[in-house]
Amino acid sequence: MKTENRTPAWLPFLPLDVPAELTEPAQVAAFELSQVEDLRAELRPDPDLPEEAYELLAEGGATIVRGGRTGMLYGAYALLAAHAAGTPLPTGVRKPFYPARMINCWDNMDGSVERGYAGRSLWFEGERFDYDPVRIRRLGRLLASCGINVLCVNNVNVHWPAQQLIDGMLPDLAAFAGLLRPFGVRLMVSVDFSQPMSDGVPTADPLDSAVQAWWAARADRVWAAVPDLYGFLVKADSEHRPGPFTYGRSHAEGANMLARAIAPHGGTLVWRAFVYNCMQDWRDTKTDRPCAAYDTYAPLDGQFDGNVILQVKNGPFDFQVREPVSPTFFAMPRTNLALELQLAQEYTGQQIDLYAMPPMWDELLADLPPERVCAVAAVSNLGRDENLFGHPFAALNLYAFGRYAWDPAPRAETVIAAWVSLTYPGMPAEDRGRLAQILLCSRHAYELYNAPLGLCWMVSPNNHYGPSPDGYEYQAWGTYHKANRDAVGIDRTAAGTGYTEQYPEPLRSRYADPATCPDELLLFFHRLRYDFVMRDGRTLIQRIYDDHFEGFALTEKMAETLRALPLPEPDRAVALARMDLQLKNAREWCDIINTFFRRLSGADDAHGRKIWD
Ligand code: GCU
Repeated sequence: MKTENRTPAWLPFLPLDVPAELTEPAQVAAFELSQVEDLRAELRPDPDLPEEAYELLAEGGATIVRGGRTGMLYGAYALLAAHAAGTPLPTGVRKPFYPARMINCWDNMDGSVERGYAGRSLWFEGERFDYDPVRIRRLGRLLASCGINVLCVNNVNVHWPAQQLIDGMLPDLAAFAGLLRPFGVRLMVSVDFSQPMSDGVPTADPLDSAVQAWWAARADRVWAAVPDLYGFLVKADSEHRPGPFTYGRSHAEGANMLARAIAPHGGTLVWRAFVYNCMQDWRDTKTDRPCAAYDTYAPLDGQFDGNVILQVKNGPFDFQVREPVSPTFFAMPRTNLALELQLAQEYTGQQIDLYAMPPMWDELLADLPPERVCAVAAVSNLGRDENLFGHPFAALNLYAFGRYAWDPAPRAETVIAAWVSLTYPGMPAEDRGRLAQILLCSRHAYELYNAPLGLCWMVSPNNHYGPSPDGYEYQAWGTYHKANRDAVGIDRTAAGTGYTEQYPEPLRSRYADPATCPDELLLFFHRLRYDFVMRDGRTLIQRIYDDHFEGFALTEKMAETLRALPLPEPDRAVALARMDLQLKNAREWCDIINTFFRRLSGADDAHGRKIWD
C-alpha cells in the first residue's frame, strides 16, 4: 500500500514519522521535541500529577514538560503548537475536563464507512484489518496532538464479520491497539447485543444466566488480548438493531448485564440513547420522534451501573443542522451521560460544503453546562483519502473536537484561528485571518440555505446531500414538517405533542412561546402561518425567502475570498473544486426550498427576486 510523505492536517511543522520502535508516550514526546531544532525542552515525569496532566515551566532558557505518563505527550504537543504558532505557553497544571474523549468510527469490515466522506476505511478492507502501519501511527499522532484518547474501531451497526473482532480477530485487534498505544489512545469495540446467539446460546435475554456467563467469558478473552481496551459501545433496539426490548427488558437491564461482564477488567460500557420508532406511520400524530430518548431513558435514571455511560446525541433528532439541546441531558442527574456529536458531515455538507462546527458547539454549550456530562464522543470524519478528511478544512472539526473535549469553554474564534495558524504557517497573517473568517461563518451560510428556521429533514432521503423538501414527509422515520398552503411546522408545545414539557426551566418557557423561542428554532417547536410576523417585523414566508437568498449570497462571497487565498497545493485545488460543488448545492437548496414554499403559499417575494414557478 502506498504511503505518501505528508504529515497530515495540523502538524506540518513535524516533518518525520514517529519511529515504530517507540512504545511509550514519553518516548514519543521526547522524539517529537527533538524534531524542532530551535526548541530547548526537557521532559520531567511527575508521578504525583494525574496521568494525563502536564505543566510547562520555563527553566534556564529551556522549557520543562512536567507531566503524568501521557500528560508529558500532551504537554509536548502543547509546547510544539505554541512554538509553531508563536503563541504564549499555557500556564499552570493542565488536565482534561473529560477523562474519556472518544472518536466513534463507523467503519465496516468490508472497507466502507457508514456516513463516511473521506474515502474508505483507514484500517478495514476485504472483511479484515488491512492498513498501512505508518498511516495508523500518523493517526495516533494526530489524535494525541489534539487530546483524543479513545477510538472505537467499528460501526455501531455491527455488520458481519465485525462480531469476529471480539472472537477470531482478537490478535488483529491487539496488534492494531499496539499501534495507537504509544499515543495514549485506547481502543473500544462496538458489539452486537445478540452475539451469544451466534455461538450456541438460544437467547440474548440479559437476565438469562447463560447469556451473562457467555459475555463474562467473552470479556475475559477480550481483555486478555487487549488489556487496556476502553470498553464496548452498543447501539441496541435502534434502527433494527437487536436489544433488550425483544425480551421485555429495560435498557438498564441490558446495559448493566454487559457492564457487569466487563467490570472485572475495568471496562466501560457505552450505551447509546439513540432509540426511537423508525417504523412510524406518517398519519400518526401522537408519536413525536424528538420525545423518544427522554421517554425511554429518563424513567431509568439511577438504575445504570457505575461503569455504564449513556451516550446521548446533542439534539433530540439526529445531527440536523439546527436542533435544540436534547432534554435528556437535564433529566438524568444520577446517570453517567456522554455527549455525542457528529464530525462526519452527514447532514452538514458531506465534507464538500464548508461547515466548521465550533460555532455550533459554542451555541450548544450556552444551553448545556459541561458538567452535565462526564464524557464526550464524536462520530469520526476520517477516511483513507490522502488528506484523511476529504476536504482539507474538515480536519478543523476533529482538531476542535479534541480541544473542546479538553476544555469545553466556548471559544470558536480562538480554536479556528489556532487551527489555521498551525495548518498553514506559511500563509501571510491577513490571509490566515480571511480563511478563519470563512470558516467562522461557514455554518451560518450553510444553515441559511438549508432547511428554514429549525425545520430539519428537507434533505434528499438516504444519501442526505441536497434538497428534497418532501423527501422524508411520508416516510417511516418520524421526520415531518407538514407544510400546507397556510402553515408549516409541528406544534411541540404542551398544546401539541408536549415535547417542550421535557425541558426544565428556563428552556421550557423559552421554547414554548414563539415570542421568546430563538428564530433559528421557531419551526422546530411551532406550527406557524406564513403570515406570522417575526420579531424583526418580517413575515415567516418572507424570512424563508430572505434567508435562502442570503445563504447563497454568503456562499458566493466565501468562494470569492477562498479563490484569492494563497493556500498551498494540493489543499488549494481540493478546496476550490469542492467550493464549486458547494455553490451548485447552495443554488439548488435556495431555489428548490423557495420554489416549494412559493408554490404552496402563493406569496410573492417582497423584493421581486427570481423564484421559479
Ligand atoms: C443516523 C445515520 C445512520 C446511523 C445512525 C446512528 O440515523 O443516518 O447511518 O446508523 O444515525 O447514529 O446510529
